[in-house]
Amino acid sequence: MLPREHSWSWLTVTVGMLLGVRPSACGDLSGARPNILLLMADDFGIGDIGCYGNNSIRTPNIDRLAEDGVMLTQHVAAASVCTPSRAAFLTGRYPLRSGMVSSNGYRVLQWTGVSGGLPTNETTFAKILKDKGYATGLIGKWHLGLNCESSNDHCHHPLNHGFDHFYGMPFSMMGDCIHWELSEKRAGMEHKLNVCFQIMAFTALTLTTGKLTHLTSGSWTPVIWSTIAAILLFMTSYFMGVLIVHADCFLMRNHTITEQPMHFQRTTSLILKEASSFVQRNKHRPFLLFVSLLHVHIPLVTTKQFLGKSQHGLYGDNVEEMDWLVGEILKAVDVNGLKNMTFTYFTSDHGGHLEARDERGQLGGWNGIFRGGKGMGGWEGGIRVPGIFRWPGVLPAGQMIHEPTSLMDVFPTVVQLGGGNVPQDRVIDGRSLVPLLQGAAEHSAHEFLFHYCGKYLHAARWHEQDRGRLWKVHYMTPQFHPKGAGACYGRGLCPCSGDGVTQHSPPLLFDLSRDPSEAEPLSPGSEPRYHAVIALVGEAVDQHRKTLSPVPPQFSLSNIIWKPWLQPCCGTFPLCACGQDEVPSET
Ligand SMILES: *[C@@H]1O[C@H](CO)[C@@H](O)[C@H](O)[C@H]1NC(C)=O
Ligand SMILES: *[C@@H]1O[C@H](CO)[C@@H](O)[C@H](O)[C@H]1NC(C)=O
Ligand SMILES: *[C@@H]1O[C@H](CO)[C@@H](O)[C@H](O)[C@H]1NC(C)=O
Repeated sequence: MLPREHSWSWLTVTVGMLLGVRPSACGDLSGARPNILLLMADDFGIGDIGCYGNNSIRTPNIDRLAEDGVMLTQHVAAASVCTPSRAAFLTGRYPLRSGMVSSNGYRVLQWTGVSGGLPTNETTFAKILKDKGYATGLIGKWHLGLNCESSNDHCHHPLNHGFDHFYGMPFSMMGDCIHWELSEKRAGMEHKLNVCFQIMAFTALTLTTGKLTHLTSGSWTPVIWSTIAAILLFMTSYFMGVLIVHADCFLMRNHTITEQPMHFQRTTSLILKEASSFVQRNKHRPFLLFVSLLHVHIPLVTTKQFLGKSQHGLYGDNVEEMDWLVGEILKAVDVNGLKNMTFTYFTSDHGGHLEARDERGQLGGWNGIFRGGKGMGGWEGGIRVPGIFRWPGVLPAGQMIHEPTSLMDVFPTVVQLGGGNVPQDRVIDGRSLVPLLQGAAEHSAHEFLFHYCGKYLHAARWHEQDRGRLWKVHYMTPQFHPKGAGACYGRGLCPCSGDGVTQHSPPLLFDLSRDPSEAEPLSPGSEPRYHAVIALVGEAVDQHRKTLSPVPPQFSLSNIIWKPWLQPCCGTFPLCACGQDEVPSET
């Protein structure tokens, strides 16, 4: 017998909403709470999905989710790169509040062996739901740090942040997880090491020649040391590729490394098996499963079944494989009879990566009509993402909502559905989406949203609800490559500050309700309320700044440099290697 009945869950939640109380306040309704399935894609552009208007890429499973549920058209990430966006998603707070933003060029964690990460005193929705009796699982990418002081203290590990089951990559997919693809990071470092090697080799050679020809006097010590240094530099540069693959591209189950380095052709099926068996194992109790997909980040590892099948090259193939994976995970929910008791969400951590392309073509996503992309805190293309919610029988089907909402809103939303309370001892920036999704509220609870790039406020939006206008004010914008409209080709990502950024005084003003592509900045001549709108948004920014307080920076230099003693390694360091993971059985 199932301990939960769908009609019961529907009734109690609805009654709870009508009475304005949380489900947990109406006596013992622990049986009424939905399962929560959160699906997040990586670097996935809003222009790459059928239901958001793409007619040539096939995403039938995501489209079906939207047909059966509610689609948000103005769903916005709190940051335009992985680490800070995910920190905000899990905590419901702007990433600046947890120190998960950079003030130097490094905007995401660059290695697993660094000490930066999501601070232990931050509260994730998983932690709250776990306390409320939910089985909580994270499958896929983490990218929010791992260790603080040793290679296995796991202070930032998902199991230390409210998840009781973890399977996936503590780090992230990246170009050089596959040997043939040099990431910017590795290419830059190899170049520096090679220059150092050449200088050292030249020094050693000159000193040796001097000694042998008796042109220089003194001891052999400098000759020996410079030769050793040259050999070490050569070895480091030579083995770096191997080292990086082993250092960062590995899988863990809970606290144990299961595959280092990863065998990518198996990864998608391993993730699917893990997700299905999690659902199967926990079907008799409420669960929260966050599937943080490795798709569609470069290097776009795609199985043979999908290679060459889409109309959009390797990127399109990878998107179609991801859609298939989403469909299979939803199937696992269906076959266990949980569809109507599961609150499902699909999103992406930020916009598509326009600069990711090579001779094979575009390798990053497409952000539709929106300007800019990944790495740009202000322009819509970097932050506008899909947002689809399904809970059959409770949420309307086939509905579209055009109100501004944030990825941070998922925090209070799932906490409310799970019968928990949001923490009262800190600022929570997200607002529950439940009233909006159910049609009980006409407007989003956000009048203003702030758009950061690293620690810099690049832009802010104001939803003028009574007039239906959506204003966006830009204080800083990245300087685009002259030939590539809307991207910073040659730089990897656009910068947040410094030379590559233009400060606007007066700021740029757009009306997104009429100009969603941010094509025509308004002027006092074209918009009579120009000055009034800029002043009002400026006031809101000042108010927002008053709510910020300094916290330890997780991206300080000492927190982002690689420390060998923090490097997780199965086997002998530095040749970390361990075998094939057992595929979990579905019992
Ligand atoms: C669909 O997605 C592909 C791949 O990103 C893109 O090249 C194409 O322009 C998109 N089509 C539309 C109509 O948005
Ligand atoms: C992970 O650890 C939790 C206990 O913390 C346990 O319940 C779960 O079964 C573990 N998962 C695996 C796959 O070992
Ligand atoms: C976490 O700890 C840091 C440093 O001790 C502190 O600045 C910050 O306010 C704390 N955060 C919360 C949410 O309590």
